[in-house]
Amino acid sequence: MDKQNIVIANWKMNLSPADSLKLAEAIIAKLGEIKPLKAQIVLCPDFLSLSGVAQKITGQPIMLGAQDCFWEPVGAFTGEVSAQFLHELGCAYVILGHSERRQYVAETNEQINLKVKAALANSLIPIICVGETFAERQEGDKDSVISQQVSNALTGIRLLDQDKVIIAYEPVWVIGSGQAVAPEEAEHAHRVIRQVLIDHFSMNAVNGQIKIIYGGSVKPNNVGNFLIQPAIDGILVGGASLEAESFAELVKQANL
Ligand code: 13P
Repeated sequence: MDKQNIVIANWKMNLSPADSLKLAEAIIAKLGEIKPLKAQIVLCPDFLSLSGVAQKITGQPIMLGAQDCFWEPVGAFTGEVSAQFLHELGCAYVILGHSERRQYVAETNEQINLKVKAALANSLIPIICVGETFAERQEGDKDSVISQQVSNALTGIRLLDQDKVIIAYEPVWVIGSGQAVAPEEAEHAHRVIRQVLIDHFSMNAVNGQIKIIYGGSVKPNNVGNFLIQPAIDGILVGGASLEAESFAELVKQANL
């Protein structure tokens, strides 16, 4: 049975606002060649580029996502960005708990949980990133680390009918390395995550409202091996999303 894959571009802090607009334009042109476009596409530029990219993709089969949000809706929180404001700007998605934020700004599971709640309360689809470090993998703790991260991110959350959630499994040690994990290993991690989700939510909710996607050195030459795995519903892409050509190639292969 064909599944609708989702392809999410995480541009991280790689592009200036001007470069983000150029890339969005190039991607629109390239994706226009894919007919019919069946995969779901999400672009996640930095905060400053969101409104420009929002305007560019108006009327296109492309959704907008942010790379983070704060947990409070409004108030004296210098430097933070509200989920409510992101929604107002046209975002439909928000990446939360990316390993780079866990690493560089010491984001905790508790903060990520608050952010997931804020995202859902503001009609955003949270893309919750989880994944083990190389040391955790060597210690044999991979499954328990990712289970704990998923479980903590979802503590106290009850999904309403309209809510949707994406869990992105991104092994920290392969991000940006050029070397992805074996697709079978990703499939195993996705099954572990699925079990945690089933422990939290109803089977119907897990099947209908939650996607589990893979990220970490996804490239045109390996993407197909991931997408044929039954528990992998799409991809979260860093490096290969920074050029329209390679991004469109990923989308073509996800366009089942
Ligand atoms: P790369 O595709 O560059 O490995 O990055 C993956 C990632 O961190 C996406 O969020």
